Amino acid sequence: MKNKFYITTPIYYVNAEPHLGHAYTTVVTDVQNRFHKLLGDETFFLTGTDEHGDKIVQASESRGIDPKTYADRISSMFRESWPLLNIRPDRFIRTTDPEHTATVQYILQKVFDRGNIVFKEYEGLYCFGCERFYVERELKDGKCPDHGTAPVNLKESNYFFTMSRYQDWLVDHIKRNASFITPERYRNEVLSFLKDPLDDLCISRPVSRLTWGIPLPFDSKFVTYVWFDALINYLTGLGYPDHSRFREFWPAAEHVIAKDILKPHGIYWPTMLKSLGLEPYKRLHVHGYWQIRDQKMSKSIGNVIRPGYLLDAFGCDATRYCLMREMVFGLDAGFSEDAFRVRINADLANDLGNLISRTLAMVHKYCGGKVPPYTGSDGPETTLRTASEQLVPVWEREMRAFAMHKALSAVWEVISVANKVIDTAAPWEMAKDPARSEELGNVLYTLLESIRIFSVLVAPVTPETAEKIQGALGIDPEKNLNVNSVRNWGLLQPGTTTSRIPSLFPRLDIAERPAGSEKNKKTAGQRRKKGKQMKETDAGGGRKTGGDGYITFEQFQNVDLRVAEIVDAEKMPRADRLLKLTVRCPEERTIVAGIAEHFSPEELKGRQVIVVANLKPVKLRGVKSEGMLLVAKDGSGLHLSAVAVPVEPGAKIS
Ligand code: ME8
Repeated sequence: MKNKFYITTPIYYVNAEPHLGHAYTTVVTDVQNRFHKLLGDETFFLTGTDEHGDKIVQASESRGIDPKTYADRISSMFRESWPLLNIRPDRFIRTTDPEHTATVQYILQKVFDRGNIVFKEYEGLYCFGCERFYVERELKDGKCPDHGTAPVNLKESNYFFTMSRYQDWLVDHIKRNASFITPERYRNEVLSFLKDPLDDLCISRPVSRLTWGIPLPFDSKFVTYVWFDALINYLTGLGYPDHSRFREFWPAAEHVIAKDILKPHGIYWPTMLKSLGLEPYKRLHVHGYWQIRDQKMSKSIGNVIRPGYLLDAFGCDATRYCLMREMVFGLDAGFSEDAFRVRINADLANDLGNLISRTLAMVHKYCGGKVPPYTGSDGPETTLRTASEQLVPVWEREMRAFAMHKALSAVWEVISVANKVIDTAAPWEMAKDPARSEELGNVLYTLLESIRIFSVLVAPVTPETAEKIQGALGIDPEKNLNVNSVRNWGLLQPGTTTSRIPSLFPRLDIAERPAGSEKNKKTAGQRRKKGKQMKETDAGGGRKTGGDGYITFEQFQNVDLRVAEIVDAEKMPRADRLLKLTVRCPEERTIVAGIAEHFSPEELKGRQVIVVANLKPVKLRGVKSEGMLLVAKDGSGLHLSAVAVPVEPGAKIS
């Protein structure tokens, strides 16, 4: 019987459109799903959207539409984004699906009947952004660590899941199963959280406060807390409780998330499963954040990159490759478009693309386009054969460990061995001497067979490229894209007709950049350093135009323009022209502006204005100014810049 593999992404909130962070998790999941298919496993891949709760109500209200219409709209954006990145889930689940409502209610009733849900009054600190109560020790300077806002004191009667009953069991389970939560740092984080006593989990919201949720089956005056509802999607997705798919796949469940939702997945979810009498999931894989200028890329900050932008700039396979190669799974990574370009040119256009086009061109020229025979000589190509054979188990180990960057780097090391073999063996010299035709055949066969191996190993990350390569080698991807086909050397049949293909990855134009020189085709370490330098230069905002008066689109993108709301304004002592403004964009900050001669503090309060939010802070008359107000100037004086309608403070201008 085939091994089973069940993999999930978080279900994403529909309060904002998909961005690079969502795309990353979903690509990781797709890559792992494809990897397990290559291994011959039977797989099931679930993704979807999380559509209930306060956040969604607020987002829909701000657009003047009802929550369901709004959720339909954003959910389909997520659903339609994934195929563009060649992501192939088996099911796209929505928490508003009637099947999910029925499953949540079935589970609530079951947990309730088992005595694991109790009704009690609770007073605590509630963050509306997170939709949950906090205890004092979880706050940072009295504020929500995620939203930076002070939670409000809330007193309510609610239903509670008796999570605390399962604390000892959970600690024991995590300690016994080293790979239950990976990488290890996140396992340790959960264990350290579990050193303090767990509170019970409030799982209801009174309908007087929130109606957009799944009604509790045992009390219609309450709806279900969004996290209790959302986590259950992983069971609904398999048709719990009756579907055979559930029985087959649940023991093989692996969840992929970022560290922001470690606690619900590392603590709430396993205890919920335990209380239901189910086995916990098999593994939880936790990754870090994509950041921009050291800040998490997030919808609330608005500093997001859309998947469509990357697809237009780089294409599907190159985007997937960069996402997997540029982030160490588990750690944060800074997004830099420059680093992506350098990576694509060096790894995909030069190393892989050139290897394939050079090899196929030589096979075309010297062997009439047919795979030559291999007689097993001991020329320079033997290094390549050994390296290619040793590569497969290393790649498999790293892929199983979710170390996609290491798996790819191992493949690229052998790709560079192949390129070196071409240079040292110099097949064009061999071709001049008919006595060396066997030697020439051995070199070219070794190159072709190694390329066949590479085509399988890159397939989870760059599926289209893998198929193109196999097509050029004259083999059928349907039959040959699997790991068994690369466990043994020599499956490529001599005599097979190959064909030449246009360049797999066109070189991207980075000529205008200081980084665009040949020097960038250096080691990964050097490349990364360069990428970082470029990021810092760009972020510094001090770059001049190219001398032609233009700035590039990317230079423009580095200017963080936002809508800010002026919450307070006052005159600066001993400075006639300066006003000290407190603005929200969306976090509160101070901006000192030279507009006192044109505006009184009173008329500014409550107004919205566009600001440059990433201008390097400066001290003006001893006050730190963090940004610049944009104003229009004409013959009649200064006028505040603004958008036509009031918008959410912090909204990005692009
Ligand atoms: O939390 N870097 O949904 P969500 C990397 N509905 N990944 C990022 C990211 C970033 N900067 N920003 C977002 C929710 N993500 C809940 C989940 S599951 C039962 C319920 C990705 O829309 C990452 O996977 O806020 C993160 O965990 C997820 O989006 C949060 O998505």
